Amino acid sequence: MKLGRLNHVGVATPSIENSLALYARMFGAEPHGPAFDLPAQGVRVCFVDAPNSQIELIEPLGDDSPIVKFLEKNPLGGQHHVCFEVSDIHAAKSEFEAKGARVLGEPRIGAHGTLVFFVHPKDMGGVLTEIMESPPQAHA
Ligand code: CO
Repeated sequence: MKLGRLNHVGVATPSIENSLALYARMFGAEPHGPAFDLPAQGVRVCFVDAPNSQIELIEPLGDDSPIVKFLEKNPLGGQHHVCFEVSDIHAAKSEFEAKGARVLGEPRIGAHGTLVFFVHPKDMGGVLTEIMESPPQAHA
């Protein structure tokens, strides 16, 4: 497995709207597009472009969203995960598992429409790590 580009940094927020206003006020940054629901991950998502990567703002979608607990501990929101690209998601999953890392669930469709999985932060030096299959065209 080869470590691919940092696709995005996931930032949990109680309000995408308020976070977009903050990024606009601090950086003059605009959203990449409208926010959208990602039911497979239990979040509502909106991306903000940086020249070399993206910030993925994630807001809970429903009371059983996996980021509800994170926001209880971090009421302002905060850095939630980092996402690296790989060329073959299934090979990457097998490789993480072979190295003893806990992969959280089966690969699912992520915010960029390709398969993703998460690696347990306890097996990645405390960092919740999303692994994403690269989109067909790089940096779409
Ligand atoms: Co993500």
